[in-house]
Amino acid sequence: MAKQRVLSGVQPTGNLHLGNYLGAIRNWVEGQSQFENFFCVVDLHAITAPHDPKTLAQDTYTIAALYLAAGIDLQYSTIFVQSHVPAHSELTWLLNCITPLNWLTDMIQFKEKSVRQGENVNTGLLDYPVLMAADILLYQADQVPVGEDQKQHLELTRDIAARFNHLFATPEAPVLKQPHPLIRPEGARVMSLTDGTRKMSKSDPSDQSRINLLDTPEQIQYKIKRCKTDPIRGLEFDNPDRPECHNLLTLYMVLSGKSREEVARECQDMGWGQFKPLLTEATIAALAPIQAKYQEIMSDRGYLESVLRTGREKAEAVANETLAQVKAALGYSKPL
Ligand code: TYM
Repeated sequence: MAKQRVLSGVQPTGNLHLGNYLGAIRNWVEGQSQFENFFCVVDLHAITAPHDPKTLAQDTYTIAALYLAAGIDLQYSTIFVQSHVPAHSELTWLLNCITPLNWLTDMIQFKEKSVRQGENVNTGLLDYPVLMAADILLYQADQVPVGEDQKQHLELTRDIAARFNHLFATPEAPVLKQPHPLIRPEGARVMSLTDGTRKMSKSDPSDQSRINLLDTPEQIQYKIKRCKTDPIRGLEFDNPDRPECHNLLTLYMVLSGKSREEVARECQDMGWGQFKPLLTEATIAALAPIQAKYQEIMSDRGYLESVLRTGREKAEAVANETLAQVKAALGYSKPL
């Protein structure tokens, strides 16, 4: 039986942080041998917020190298850059024309980001989830491994696929497959180091709020030393009045590979002064192999380029086939 297909992506905006790693990439790595995987660097999404043209290409390479450094294996997975496959933009346009406007204005991320971007809100920010739907639907993906914050965008993708099939296909021969979100509970929502009620985010102006995958051991130590805690002794999961405590224990659990019960027992009588060095050590140890591999990959630009070239060819073959089916269903004439 053919393997189920997976597609996911990360934006090349700034550095990747522990939320991106634990919510998404680590799960891609762990599940990859069971699936046929496509992982893209979503650089078209990256310009929906103000961006710096001088760093976009380099940031794109950085993310692709981090995919490899985190353990994406080319035996099972294809890595490519979204803008290298023009079908993503073309399908977005076609899907735009069947997506009701209020589906987009209702998106939580659009509402939040448009408040933050003030007068800089462009049409791309509103249309962002349709581009994401195109990314997924082009590959007829069965599963989409993401963090909790992308759940609503996945629901929208399913709705767009269903609407397209309803309008332009038959139930017996649907054109677009409805994908399922793959959200692992541990690490699906990593919270900020400065406020345990807000998610860790690339767009938080304070770098102290996140641990980046490429932070040095000194930076990691400094950030954990200064992170927000509470005055209570004895650490516990799931106390709604102690969001920072729950977040830091969860990070420790996932990064150290210990079970929840083990961590709960180990930390139940601890104070923060005793716990923070443990978390620091576990974080540094978990990131060290990724950082070493990253340096190795970045020192061989030719290799990275060849990975992305092969990735583009494989991705394009699948994407173009779906695009042709969509255009045929919509009644377009074939190019002569
Ligand atoms: P992006 O670049 O914001 O985030 C990439 C991935 O990291 C997850 N994530 C988190 N997980 C746990 N805790 C956090 N604090 C945290 N912050 C981010 C996100 O859920 C995501 O899985 N729209 C997407 C990118 C995208 C995409 C796609 C994803 C574009 N096309 C197609 C899947 C399929 C985004 O902005 O992710």
